[in-house]
Formats: sequence, structure tokens, C-alpha cells
Amino acid sequence: MSRRFFVGGNWKMNSSNQHLAEHTKLLNSINADDVEVVIAPPSIYLCSVRDKLDKNIGVASQNCYFVDNGAFTGEISPSMLLDNDIRYVIIGHSERRTIFHETDELIANKVAFAISKGLIVIACIGETLAERERNDTLNVVYRQLTALKEKLENEAGWKNVVIAYEPVWAIGTGKVATPAQVHKAIRDWLTKNVSSKVSSDTRIIYGGSVTADNCKELAHQPDVDGFLVGGASLKPEFVDIVRARK
Ligand code: G3H
Repeated sequence: MSRRFFVGGNWKMNSSNQHLAEHTKLLNSINADDVEVVIAPPSIYLCSVRDKLDKNIGVASQNCYFVDNGAFTGEISPSMLLDNDIRYVIIGHSERRTIFHETDELIANKVAFAISKGLIVIACIGETLAERERNDTLNVVYRQLTALKEKLENEAGWKNVVIAYEPVWAIGTGKVATPAQVHKAIRDWLTKNVSSKVSSDTRIIYGGSVTADNCKELAHQPDVDGFLVGGASLKPEFVDIVRARK
């Protein structure tokens, strides 16, 4: 099957009421029904962004917990997201892994729980610079995927997963990877370890210093099914990135 191009805008801990009012107007003017566009604002702005965006644009939380409710100060559950029409969640971003010490196991638990509740998960994987320099890129990526596989259990679990390959050394640095080889390795891993159907259906997107200037070339690399964009997603150039395949 053909995989629908996917472009996520991860605002991280940025934006304001004024910025989002202007930026959502711009996003609503994008005419790109062939692209799945998903915006991930900070949690305090999720409902406001959901209210302002057209329904054909999805909204994602940047995180969620693996329990429905209870004494977990500071956390948000998948049910609460769905209750507010937030249908996507980013899990396992490298900033969650490195700054907040989230482990492969915690991330896999969150992914599996979010999927079981009906969210679409953008699951982030990728190596650090030190790991890359040790030639460990694929070992790291396979380890992160294996942790997911152990919790997702069966093929159906992968249906609502978008894999975001984000080499940590490329995030916010202006250094862009040539991701086709790693994307191919991820797809081959899915064929071997999950199924050929999951392998051919799953979107594998790239994140790391994607801009209006480099998006076209990246969008046409084999096995690159879209982007997870950080810095540039806050700016008008995000519109050009959504249209990268045009
Ligand atoms: O989630 C997005 C990635 O961390 C990429 O961020 O586009 O600012 O490099 P960046």
C-alpha cells in the first residue's frame, strides 16, 4: 500500500497565545489533503490549538503516561487526550530520553498503553553522536525497536505507530542526516521481526534540522515517509515543509 506522507510539527516548549493564534491561521490555509499534518504544542496549549485548527489537521501531545488516572502529579493520560479530541502523541523523543531519563522500557510501556487506548503514536528513536561515532547507530535503533516490539505483542499494535528516526546529533544543530540507509534498515528490521505487512505499511519519518531548504531532497529519499520538525515548525516555512513532496 502507499504510505500517506506525514509531517509533524513538534513545538517543544515554545509558543504563546499570540504565536499560536497567528500560526494556526497559517496552518489552516495549507491545502494539502494528501499529507497527514499533526501539530504538537506544549500541553497547556493543546485544547486551544485543537479548537483553532481545522479538523483535517491532527493535534499531538508531546508526552503521556501509561495509567488512566491517579496520583501522578504532572502527567496526562491517553484517555484525557482523547476526551479533548487529541488523537496523537509523541513518545520517546530524545529530549525525554536524555533530559528526563526515560528508559526504553518506560517508553515502550507508554507506547503500548497509548496504542491500547486508541491514540496514534509517533515513536521516536535515534542514536547520539557518541553512539554514531562508535558505529552503533543500528544497534541502538534495533534495541529501541526491540523494546517496543516486546510490549506491542502483535501486528495490530503497530497499525497506529509512526516511527520517527531522529539522530540526536541532528536535532536543532543544523546538521542533517542522510537518513535513507537507516530508514531502509528500520524497514528491514520490521519485515524480519514483525511482518512484511507492518513493514510496508508503517510510516518511517525523519527528524533533525529539517527546513524549507532541505525538505524536498529529504522527502524524495527512499523509505522517508515524512518528517518530525522542531524549530522550523514554529515558523511560516513549515508550510513549505508540508508541501515537500509537491
Ligand atoms: O521533534 C523534532 C526534532 O527534535 C527535530 O528538531 O527540527 O529543531 O532539529 P529540529
